[in-house]
Amino acid sequence: MKALIVFDSVHGNTEAIARAIAGVGGKAGIRMVRAGQAKNGDLVGLDLLVVGSPTLGGRPTPAVKTFLERIPAGALAKVRVAAFDTRMTMWVAKLFGWAADRIETVLEAKGGLPTAKPAGFIVGGREGPLKEGERERAAAWAKGFAG
Ligand SMILES: Cc1cc2nc3c(=O)[nH]c(=O)nc-3n(C[C@H](O)[C@H](O)[C@H](O)COP(=O)(O)O)c2cc1C
Repeated sequence: MKALIVFDSVHGNTEAIARAIAGVGGKAGIRMVRAGQAKNGDLVGLDLLVVGSPTLGGRPTPAVKTFLERIPAGALAKVRVAAFDTRMTMWVAKLFGWAADRIETVLEAKGGLPTAKPAGFIVGGREGPLKEGERERAAAWAKGFAG
């Protein structure tokens, strides 16, 4: 299985979740690439694409948005896709919505086949840290489609 995680991270929390997901890939492993460095060539022959971002104002980061916009139409046909974000639990955050849902919408629009419900992993504040157990929860989420 050829799998790729495209992620962005300002303070390292989303990167830590991406690593926990990559760890589920077993021997073959799951490659990780920062959204700003991902190229369309990385998508060739892909079976699984996971995209993750911090939630900023209810949206993914500009680098993730740009990566998603640049995926050619139909390039994800037959590619299984999953989206995640990191987020806070403050009630106001709910008003803005979540990056993972927006990522999932674009991945589907580009032809991807959703393979898991978009997932959000909780940070204690803007810079983190991740709530206890979130890395493990991310690994369990990923085992559902990449284990
Ligand atoms: C400018 C800014 C806007 C943010 N907006 C939201 C938001 O709308 N909803 C939310 O849950 N968290 C919000 N956060 C918290 C981020 O989700 C948090 O900083 C992020 O999960 C950290 O991930 P990282 O360590 O990978 O950068 C915001 C943080 C910043 C700095």
